[in-house]
Amino acid sequence: MNKASAVRAVCPKNVREPAAGTVRVVPVWNGEAWGADALPPDDAAVLAAWLRKHDFKGEAGTAAWPTGVSVPVLLAGMGSTGDFQTVRWFRGWAAAGKALADAKAESARVEDSIFDRLPEGAPGRAALSRLLAEGLGTGGYRFLALRGKADGGEKTPPIEVELAGDDFAAPDVRRAVERGMLAADTVNEIRDAANTPANRLGPAEMATFAKKLADADGLSCKVFDEKALRREKAGALLAVGQGSHRPPCLLRLAYTPAKAPKGARPRVLVGKAILFDAGGICLKPAKNMEWMQYDKCGGMAAIAAVLLAARLKLPRPVVAYVPMAENLPGGGAQRPGDIVTARNGKTIEVLNTDAEGRLILADALTFAADEKPEAIVDIATLTGAVVIALGHEASGVMGNDGDLLDALDAAAGTAGERIWRFPMWEEYATPLRGTFGDLRNMGAPGAAGTIAAGMFLKQFVPEGTPWAHLDIAGTAWNETATAWGAPGATLACARLLAAWLEADA
Ligand code: BES
Ligand code: MN
Ligand code: ZN
Repeated sequence: MNKASAVRAVCPKNVREPAAGTVRVVPVWNGEAWGADALPPDDAAVLAAWLRKHDFKGEAGTAAWPTGVSVPVLLAGMGSTGDFQTVRWFRGWAAAGKALADAKAESARVEDSIFDRLPEGAPGRAALSRLLAEGLGTGGYRFLALRGKADGGEKTPPIEVELAGDDFAAPDVRRAVERGMLAADTVNEIRDAANTPANRLGPAEMATFAKKLADADGLSCKVFDEKALRREKAGALLAVGQGSHRPPCLLRLAYTPAKAPKGARPRVLVGKAILFDAGGICLKPAKNMEWMQYDKCGGMAAIAAVLLAARLKLPRPVVAYVPMAENLPGGGAQRPGDIVTARNGKTIEVLNTDAEGRLILADALTFAADEKPEAIVDIATLTGAVVIALGHEASGVMGNDGDLLDALDAAAGTAGERIWRFPMWEEYATPLRGTFGDLRNMGAPGAAGTIAAGMFLKQFVPEGTPWAHLDIAGTAWNETATAWGAPGATLACARLLAAWLEADA
């Protein structure tokens, strides 16, 4: 691992008096600062007055620098105690991480008195501390790799956030914080790649990037190039890639734990990585097209999750498949009306070349099924329709197995992320029946586009294999900064997937 997050939570062995410039981070619940009594005398009263005057309620994911206090204080909004959600806790600490990074703070500190009172329904201290570390670490991220030397490209030492007090010194909490930082570091490392535009990162470059990571962390890595894909008869993935001079490929990463239980079947991730989605011959409008470099974010999240499984030394085997291609309208591009044959022999009428994600996932899902998996979860920036349905607050989820969907809901709670379930009634597959081929790659325009895409994918998962699909089109990137995150890739659902890989069921 070569990337340390710019903001880092640490549990020091010997907690000393904070240095003069150290920022005290204080959570705010219902407009009330919690743990302020750990500040120098009088500051608690000054803070309370400031909060009232500025009517700072501490909405989850907001931060503020109050004035009049005798030491630097950063307020981190956690929301309302009556409505606790891990996503709000996570965002609150992410906003703090971002504020510390933006202010170029030298050091910061959080007292364990934040645990003296906690809202009902909050998880234990270890789980909260892990999310606190993940929030601070990912919230402090900014994409700086491509800045000129004159503008922010300089390396600054990381900002250490000391977690002080007995609660933070407990072995399980300390370990949770370390694992949280490992997660943040991994997410931020892959975010740098996810933020790299398409001129600098094509399918081949992304495969090389993944190979390097795999080698360093002991994962096995195999890349199916164009020739191998032809041998495998992955006709749908090849068809999407044929409009670009840069050929498509398929990445397979596998993590095998040192002591895998005998006969353990892998959990398999499949992540869409379209390095750029121009729409192909069904060209997208120019407006906002630049964001389509982020059409690789499902693949990036899958890579981050399997990497994290390895770095956390999870007990279960994990495989990730990432189909990579560029959807461009070159002279060799597929056309509307083309009928392609997927790897499982199904024929697909390509009615819209811009519905390319489901084509590359179709073939990748058949590879996933070959692993005799315990379960498959795919992740993709698949439909604009999911943004209409859920906006940017939640990722869409659907699948064929209630227990798996429940496990993903639990993982979302653990990771402080949001997913929301769509139905998969068989009737939704009717519009996908082909006229000349087995399937068509889109249903009726304007009607349940997210579900239609999911129903399409379902045709490539064998009966009896638990499978779920995450649509992250609304959550994979920020177009402008939020209080808790920089513009660019968020790596939505990467930590959720890792939490699922870590969970028993
Ligand atoms: N990558 C896009 C989906 C997308 C759109 C992600 C906007 C993020 C923001 C996907 O390949 C796509 O173009 N989907 C089409 C499908 C349609 C042609 C059936 C869409 O959603 O419009
Ligand atoms: Mn598209
Ligand atoms: Zn796409």
